Amino acid sequence: MDTIEQIAMDLAEAEQGGSAPVIAVEDLHKSFGSQNVLDGISLAVKRGETLAVLGRSGTGKSVLLRLIIGLETPDSGSISIDGNEIGGLTVDRMGEIRKKMGFLFQHAALYDSLTVRENVAFPLRHNRKDMPQSELTDRVKQLLAEVGLAADLNKMPSDISGGMQKRVGLARALALEPEILLLDEPTAGLDPISSGEIDDLILKLQRERQMASIVVTHDLHSAKTIANRFALLDQGDVVVEGTFEDLQQSSIPFVREFLKHL
Ligand SMILES: Nc1ncnc2c1ncn2[C@@H]1O[C@H](COP(=O)(O)OP(=O)(O)OP(=O)(O)O)[C@@H](O)[C@H]1O
Ligand SMILES: [Mg+2]
Repeated sequence: MDTIEQIAMDLAEAEQGGSAPVIAVEDLHKSFGSQNVLDGISLAVKRGETLAVLGRSGTGKSVLLRLIIGLETPDSGSISIDGNEIGGLTVDRMGEIRKKMGFLFQHAALYDSLTVRENVAFPLRHNRKDMPQSELTDRVKQLLAEVGLAADLNKMPSDISGGMQKRVGLARALALEPEILLLDEPTAGLDPISSGEIDDLILKLQRERQMASIVVTHDLHSAKTIANRFALLDQGDVVVEGTFEDLQQSSIPFVREFLKHL
């Protein structure tokens, strides 16, 4: 519907700062035993946005991503993906929603016994069963070329560097052309040049694909390169959220302390 009304609505929406969030998290709580990890987190990410989630080790950043992808269940609160509350969904429906999400685990989490090529092919083999083998092969090659690993497709994960493993993880996360990209410390443990290359790659992918992304990172340089919004977590809650300038201007003692040590 490309009517005048639609165009007017789009313009009004753009003026208000864009469309409805792709990822909306509200008042999320999660405990493990007596440990209260997330204590009322609320966040929203729109298409084309990258939110950097910062915070000390153990504050629940990885848990937050695992909840969004449905690998953990919240104690209370809601998570909506494209307006669908994932709480009450059937396994099949959740499976459909999960296909919209690309996830890069904190430690790349490649399948050790599979080659680089087969790691990237994995989501396609499981979710695009009707894809002809020749198309699958081409798609995997294209994904690996995109992350600069065209020449390494037959290597085993143990025979490539940490930076290359992260790239393979990224190619695998992109295999199903996700609308949502969740990255858990994409540059951790990498030298500054490799980190910069990963950042450039993420930025390029974001520009081309306009995904809604969350990146968890301890790397402020990386966060500033790839993110347009920041959320700082502490003690189970979002302490501050906004642009980097908003963080810098915050008078909250924890925010000032955190930024001083970055
Ligand atoms: N499955 C689980 N069972 C019990 N405790 C868990 C589980 N998953 C996470 N936790 C605990 O929840 C807390 C938050 O863990 P999480 O991995 O999210 O931290 P993080 O913010 O990602 O830290 P880092 O920056 O070091 O990666 C930790 O204390 C962790 O031990
Ligand atoms: Mg973590």
